[in-house]
Amino acid sequence: MGVVGLGTMGAGIAEVLARGGLAVTAVEADPEALARGMETLTGSLARAVKRGKLAAGESEEIARRVTPAGKLAELSGADLVIEVVPEQLAIKRSVLAELDQVCRPDTIFATNTSSLSVTTIAAGTAHPDRVVGMHFFNPAPVMRLVEVVTTVLTSPAAGAAATDLARRLGKTPVQVTDRAGFVANALLLPYLNHAVRLLETGYATREDIDLAMTAGAGLPMGPLTLLDLIGLDTSLAVLEVLEHEFGGTRYTPAPLLRRLTDAGRLGRKTGAGFYEYPVPESPSVAAEPAAEVPGTVTLIDPVAGADAASTARAANLASLLAAAGVNVTRDPAQDTDLIIVAIDETGGVLGALAEAEASRVADAVGLKLVNSGFGEIAPSLLTSALAMDKALALAAKLGLRTVRVPDRPGLLVGALLYPHLRDAAAMVSDGYAKPVDVDSAMTLGCGYPRGPVLMLDEAGLAETARVLTAMHAAYGDPALVPPPLLTECAEAGLALSSLG
Ligand code: 3HC
Repeated sequence: MGVVGLGTMGAGIAEVLARGGLAVTAVEADPEALARGMETLTGSLARAVKRGKLAAGESEEIARRVTPAGKLAELSGADLVIEVVPEQLAIKRSVLAELDQVCRPDTIFATNTSSLSVTTIAAGTAHPDRVVGMHFFNPAPVMRLVEVVTTVLTSPAAGAAATDLARRLGKTPVQVTDRAGFVANALLLPYLNHAVRLLETGYATREDIDLAMTAGAGLPMGPLTLLDLIGLDTSLAVLEVLEHEFGGTRYTPAPLLRRLTDAGRLGRKTGAGFYEYPVPESPSVAAEPAAEVPGTVTLIDPVAGADAASTARAANLASLLAAAGVNVTRDPAQDTDLIIVAIDETGGVLGALAEAEASRVADAVGLKLVNSGFGEIAPSLLTSALAMDKALALAAKLGLRTVRVPDRPGLLVGALLYPHLRDAAAMVSDGYAKPVDVDSAMTLGCGYPRGPVLMLDEAGLAETARVLTAMHAAYGDPALVPPPLLTECAEAGLALSSLG
């Protein structure tokens, strides 16, 4: 096997191949980059040994299977070469042109491109039928997905070889066609980009954005942490290709992403991105609540009695408060320490107060309980700083981790999650990918505990459409309109995941 390019992904792929028992020649022209890549590889193996996942002897054997090299000529005997060079067509083309000269006529060339067209890359080579895409995910030794991209030019034998290799490496190959972003990146990157936009517009803090998606949505990493892992330059490159191919607001790279990339803050690989690395190993100190825990709370249900979910939401909060020894009243005329509006994802604190004829608007915050350990606190524009502090003190007493969000449709979890799920539904609605492929891509490639299609079914298609429609009404972005299939399935009472 040959691997060309020993950055984060190249080193990871070389490790995966060597772990699969294959002899690997790892080529990197720049000697410093070659040494760094080999360090990444041995560091990853050492980590596995430390965690008891590999015996020291096994790790040495795996490392011995990898031969570092400075020249492509060393790949003359390779059966299959994976190129993992930077995401620039000119670089990839020149590498493949050189490989054409040095490799056997039957060598298969796989590109790990995350954004470029495999067809375009293949078309520039002497044997385009032998070029396939093998798209691995970061960290390559951990993520189980390999998107196998065949083009109109790929021979069935080359496609089969890539699929067999992925299986041999213990990965799950998923066949995808050569469309920008394939499946996983086309869904992941617009969502990550949206998170950057929320950060740069001051909608929420870096930590709250990440916490919302881990504690609130159950994802393994927050979007900004994940961008740092993938690399901001790579992410920007994928978005540019997506924007070029599909257009639309979701793909236009957030200016902050571009600025950080220009500044060389590319994420973990350069020691800084949205966060700094290595993260200091200091224990996190919980901030002392700035206000006393309120002893009495007025609870307001925005659509009292009108819908079962709303009544259940308010009742749930009421019992949580009562269990924590807080006196709860539903009477807006009564004087209490704090007013909590039991909002849903669409927010609306001031509207609910007006409807309930509650006059103490400065004392009121919105609270959306996302799950038993996590909530979103939404002050209105008229909420006092003291009321916000009291709400935080109360949340701490209830054992809730919280994020602070503007009182706008979507709040924070929904603002990031619903458009992301919408994109997944649109992909199915457009006939580009089957529900099962979408869910496999995101569970195996990005570590989601459940795929977006299943998440949509669990959230309820009608409910998702309702929140998206409220977000669309607030922002007017066409990328928020529920796709036809979502509303059709909701009306027909069908689960999206039940579609073939
Ligand atoms: N290299 C090698 N192994 C690593 C690793 C790394 N960089 N980081 C973590 N691991 C291993 C650990 O050794 C551990 O292995 P074990 O279970 O065999 O002991 C396992 O991963 C879990 O690690 P931790 O317990 O330290 O950490 P977490 O539980 O927090 O998991 C994670 C880390 C697996 C990275 C998880 O957070 C995750 O799944 N994140 C999402 C990653 C993701 O979305 N990747 C796809 C990005 S998109 C992409 O790459 C495509 C590109 O084209 C843009």
